[in-house]
Amino acid sequence: MANVKFDNITVSYGNHTVLKNFSLEVESGRIVCLVGPSGCGKTTLVRALLGLNKPETGVITVGDRCLFDAKKRVNVPAEKRNIGIVFQDYAVWPHMTVLENVCYPLKKQRRPKDEIQKRAMHALEQVHMTEYAKHLPNQLSGGQQQRVAIARALVVDSDVLVMDEPITNLDAKLREEMLLEIRMIQKRLNATILYITHDQQSALQLCDKMAIMQQDGTLCQYGTDEEIILHPANRFTFEFIGVSNFIPIEKGPAGAVLKCGGASPIPYDGEVPQEALGGGYELGVRPNDIVFDPSSPIQAHVTSRVFLGSEYNYFLNIGEKQVRVQQSMLDARTRGVAKEGETVGIRFLNTRFYPAKKGEQTV
Ligand SMILES: Nc1ncnc2c1ncn2[C@@H]1O[C@H](COP(=O)(O)OP(=O)(O)O)[C@@H](O)[C@H]1O
Ligand SMILES: [Mg+2]
Repeated sequence: MANVKFDNITVSYGNHTVLKNFSLEVESGRIVCLVGPSGCGKTTLVRALLGLNKPETGVITVGDRCLFDAKKRVNVPAEKRNIGIVFQDYAVWPHMTVLENVCYPLKKQRRPKDEIQKRAMHALEQVHMTEYAKHLPNQLSGGQQQRVAIARALVVDSDVLVMDEPITNLDAKLREEMLLEIRMIQKRLNATILYITHDQQSALQLCDKMAIMQQDGTLCQYGTDEEIILHPANRFTFEFIGVSNFIPIEKGPAGAVLKCGGASPIPYDGEVPQEALGGGYELGVRPNDIVFDPSSPIQAHVTSRVFLGSEYNYFLNIGEKQVRVQQSMLDARTRGVAKEGETVGIRFLNTRFYPAKKGEQTV
C-alpha cells in the first residue's frame, strides 16, 4: 500500500468551483477520515482520485506514481489507477455469489481465467471469507457482506482503498459492527484507507487522523481525533466534531456578561480575550467542561437529567438559554449530582470565544 497526496486540486462544475486549491496527504498504512457536511465536495475529491473527473489545477500522486498533473498533462485513465473503492452500504451484487462478486472487477479487465480465480481467492483469504465463496450475499451477515465488498476492492491490487460513505444508511448496531470490521481488516493488511463520511461519530471511532472539510470545500483542520476535539482550529470544527454549547457574551458595566435572554445579563468572572468583548461574540464550552459549583455567580435551572450508565446528561437553562452538561461518575461522586427542578451554580472549565454566526444573535 502507498500514501496518497492531493496537491493544490481545483475542481469545478461549470462555473461552480467545488474544490479550490485543495491539499491533503494520507500517509501509507493509515486510515484517514475525511469528514464534512453533505455537499461540501467529498465525493468530488474521490472522483478526482479515481480519474472520473478532471481537476483544473494540481497534482495527485499515489506512492511514487503520479496519477494526475494538470501542468504536465498527466491523466492516468481510471482503469489503470489501482484504487479500490467501496461505495454506500457495501453494495455487493445480490444475484452473484461471493466469488463472482470478487471476480467481477478482474473480468472487466479481461484477465485470464486462471489468474482471476487465483487473485479472487487470495482477496477472499485476506478478509477471511474463503469458506463462503459459493454463498449468495443474502446468506451472509452484514459484516460478512462488508468483507466481500472490501475483497472486491482489494482484488485489483489496490494501492489504496477509498470508502465513500460505505455504511450511511445502516442501523446503529450494524454500523458499529461494520466499523469494527473495517478497522480489523485495515490493521491486518496495513492498508491505506481514505474513509469519507459526513458522520463525525463513525469518524471518531475509526480514524488514525481526521481531515475536516467545511461547506465551502476548504480543509479547515487535519489532525488526530484528540487534536481536533481538544484544539479545534476554528468554530466550524468545534461545532461539527463533538457536542458544543454557545452563549452570547459582551462587555457589561463591570466586566464581561453572558446574555441569556429574559433576566438581566449574568456577570461572567472567567477570563475573556479583549476582542470577545467588542460585541457579536459567543462563549463556546463542551458539555463535559461544565461543572457544578455552588459559589459560582452563574445560576442555572435543571430541566432534565438522564443517567446513561457511566455518566449523567443534563439540560440546564441559564436564563432562557439551554445548555447541555455531561457529568462523569467520578465527578458525580465528588461534587454530587443535580436534581431536576433544582437551581445550581455552574462553572466553565475550558472556554473558547468565537464570533457569533450571522442570524444567530437572537438573545
Ligand atoms: N456532476 C455534477 N454536476 C454539477 N454539480 C455537481 C455534480 N456533482 C456534484 N455537484 C455539486 O458539487 C457539490 C459537491 O458535491 P459532492 O462532492 O457530491 O459533495 P459531498 O460528497 O460532500 O456530499 C454539490 O454542490 C453538488 O451539488
Ligand atoms: Mg458524497
